Amino acid sequence: MDSKLNNKILKTLSEKGLNTESFMEGLQSIKPLTYWDYIQTESLLGLQTQRTDQPDEMVFIVYHQINELLFKMILWEIEQIALEKQLKATFFAERLDRVSRYFDMLCSSFIIMKDGMDLEQYMKFRKTLAPASGFQSAQYRKIEFASTELINLIDFRFRKTINRNTPFRHAFEHLYWQAAGKNHETGEKSAMIHLFEEKYMDEFIDFMKKYNHKNIWTLFDSLPSDEKINLSLINAMRHFDHTVNIKWVMEHFKTASKYLDGANKVEKASGGSDWKKYMHPKYQRRTFFPKLWTKEEMVNWGEQNLETHRILSSFVELDI
Ligand code: HEM
Repeated sequence: MDSKLNNKILKTLSEKGLNTESFMEGLQSIKPLTYWDYIQTESLLGLQTQRTDQPDEMVFIVYHQINELLFKMILWEIEQIALEKQLKATFFAERLDRVSRYFDMLCSSFIIMKDGMDLEQYMKFRKTLAPASGFQSAQYRKIEFASTELINLIDFRFRKTINRNTPFRHAFEHLYWQAAGKNHETGEKSAMIHLFEEKYMDEFIDFMKKYNHKNIWTLFDSLPSDEKINLSLINAMRHFDHTVNIKWVMEHFKTASKYLDGANKVEKASGGSDWKKYMHPKYQRRTFFPKLWTKEEMVNWGEQNLETHRILSSFVELDI
């Protein structure tokens, strides 16, 4: 290595606060890196613990873990957008496309759950899982908090009573997903939601605060107007919204229907929700970016746009 380059490297190391001499000496005894140490394959492959002797329970566990890893990648990219000092439409759209590709993968692979497990085996091992449910995926909730204004996650019945001055804990009690975990007559929370909040409530409140002014929608809305009126970005935002809130929700719903909507009786969800009402996008009507859809698209949300959404060729139809 030429000495100029050597000096440059030593300077960079010392700027990082390293004692360059002992660092270089230490390098002599460093072990060669292996794939398995770097990727930590052994730890990763040791994380699948079945509760039953049913082989297909392994499919269920591993697929959920794959989802969590992709959720991690999604949150990672959203954070890169939030941290960007001078956010530009091209960077924004490019990173959002990454996020959508991860979610597209989750949609196209959901068939692993629907058609990739033996029905009889599933019915056996699911009985050992209550009150656990994918509902308790904290990363899924964080993706929601990081994507949109809190008001868009509030149950429609309470939206008029909540605004930016509402304390976070009060807003939390009115999130749309509270409906899946409460007995409507008594207002009592189910074990599924009770345990979830016990574990994550404080972390969620901090996260909600962190993304209150840095979620994808507010970042978009605060772009200078010439950056904002960018069709690639607007279409990337629409694709993300549609993928998460319609396509994924529908794949999930179809899977739940196959297992829980038996020929003779409707099975109880492991988390105990009134799942048929709760899970269909036409009832939930969750949208991250309502201003990026036309009035007609909003009215038909979850009814006519189940498979695809329109790619906009002009933004004049939108009120932005
Ligand atoms: C056979 C496969 C699956 C079935 C039958 C199923 C069923 C359900 C049901 C019935 C609910 C409603 C809550 C409850 O009472 O439990 C639910 C919620 C949920 N599940 Fe699944 N699920 C499956 C796979 C997955 C996978 C692979 C994930 C990925 C992590 C997942 C994530 C979620 C999430 C995030 C919710 C909450 C959704 C919301 O609040 O809108 N589920 N699931």
